[in-house]
Amino acid sequence: MDKVLLFYEKDDYYDFKDSKTLEGYSIISVTKLIHNLSLIKEFDTNSEIIDLSALTEYNSIQSIFEQMIYQFEETPIFICDVSKREKLEYELRFIFDEFQNVDRETFVKKEKETELLNNEKQLVSKRHKKIIDLNDDELSQFFSEFRNRLYGHSKFKDDFEQQIRTFRVFNKLGEHKILSLFLMGESGVGKTEVARTIFNCLKGEKKLAKINFGNYSNEFSLSSLIGSARGYIGSDDGEIFMKVRETDMGILLIDEFEKSNSTLFNYFLEVLESGKMTSSLGEEMDLNGFIIVFTSNISKEDFKKRISPELRSRFDYKCIFTLLSDNDKMKYIEFRAESISKKVKSEFKIDLGEQLKAYLSTCINVSSYKNMRDINKQIKKEFLTYLSIYQSNQDENIEIQNNTTKVGFTRKLLNILNG
Ligand SMILES: Nc1ncnc2c1ncn2[C@@H]1O[C@H](COP(=O)(O)OP(=O)(O)O)[C@@H](O)[C@H]1O
Ligand SMILES: [Mg+2]
Repeated sequence: MDKVLLFYEKDDYYDFKDSKTLEGYSIISVTKLIHNLSLIKEFDTNSEIIDLSALTEYNSIQSIFEQMIYQFEETPIFICDVSKREKLEYELRFIFDEFQNVDRETFVKKEKETELLNNEKQLVSKRHKKIIDLNDDELSQFFSEFRNRLYGHSKFKDDFEQQIRTFRVFNKLGEHKILSLFLMGESGVGKTEVARTIFNCLKGEKKLAKINFGNYSNEFSLSSLIGSARGYIGSDDGEIFMKVRETDMGILLIDEFEKSNSTLFNYFLEVLESGKMTSSLGEEMDLNGFIIVFTSNISKEDFKKRISPELRSRFDYKCIFTLLSDNDKMKYIEFRAESISKKVKSEFKIDLGEQLKAYLSTCINVSSYKNMRDINKQIKKEFLTYLSIYQSNQDENIEIQNNTTKVGFTRKLLNILNG
């Protein structure tokens, strides 16, 4: 059978998709197969269509596609966004026999539905609650909570407040779309915690949109990050579009930024400049009013070496987080002790009062820890020790008579620690 590649106009996509759905087809992106070639064996040409648009994101289009195409038992239907026609028609000239436009007569255009979808698209960024939407009272409340929840880093907190205040003004004037913070520093000092805290202080209920660049270090990284934004339920959406769509707050965390490569760095330069994310199919998601927190373990020297001057100057605020002071570490332990005690009280009706706080403060020597993560681990360990002492002292008081309750008790305790 002849191999044909069909091109569609962007505006026709949903109509085309709908009419094919009625015929029993679903459309999948070629990236899915590239990432997992073994899927080709299970591929059903009678119910699946392959969209090749994302191929243009790859460097060696020809060889990647050749590796796949000969593994299909029957030739599937291939489609592609017409804006990629020139490139693919050239790259794939030895593979396809024909390049055609899809026959628009075969599907009915549903103007109304298209309109609805467009409206829905525009709503995307309005669905997020953003720092620029808070009124003055809410903003003061936000800052005071933020200061309380993040320990130490007092200079950063002052600067952060200033940055936000400036951002709110210039965003309204249309001059500043995204507030970008670049946080450097050793592991476990609270870089990621900044984004979590912003999210929580904005009262986020869903999940913080977080992308770990550690997962995006190979040559396919850009296309899996920004794969099609199309189809709001689509499974081959790029991760970043999915995460932003699924969260309720205008904050995006790009964790471990240095782990990725220059293609992604350039992509973010573009995002910060335009205030929009563009998917590999050319669709846009407006990020106006968002805060993007980039975190990185990078050293000062590597920061200059690895990240281009353009991008460096694009970040609104750069900061190196240093180790918390012993005093702040103590405060952190007290805070953790209080929150654990509270949970124990509500879960087991055991009132530990100030005991746990006193216990943890004496037995953990904060100056020997550099990393808050390690302090956290130690808190968990000491808490369990504390409980076994507590339990042996009060065995008759707590009603743990048989093994089943004991297992339940331990499991609940572990839940408390992880919560
Ligand atoms: N300044 C801080 N204030 C509150 N919690 C912190 C702080 N620093 C670290 N933590 C706690 O320590 C853990 C590790 O912090 P994290 O922000 O993930 O470190 P990193 O700097 O490596 O991103 C988190 O669970 C967080 O709760
Ligand atoms: Mg981190």
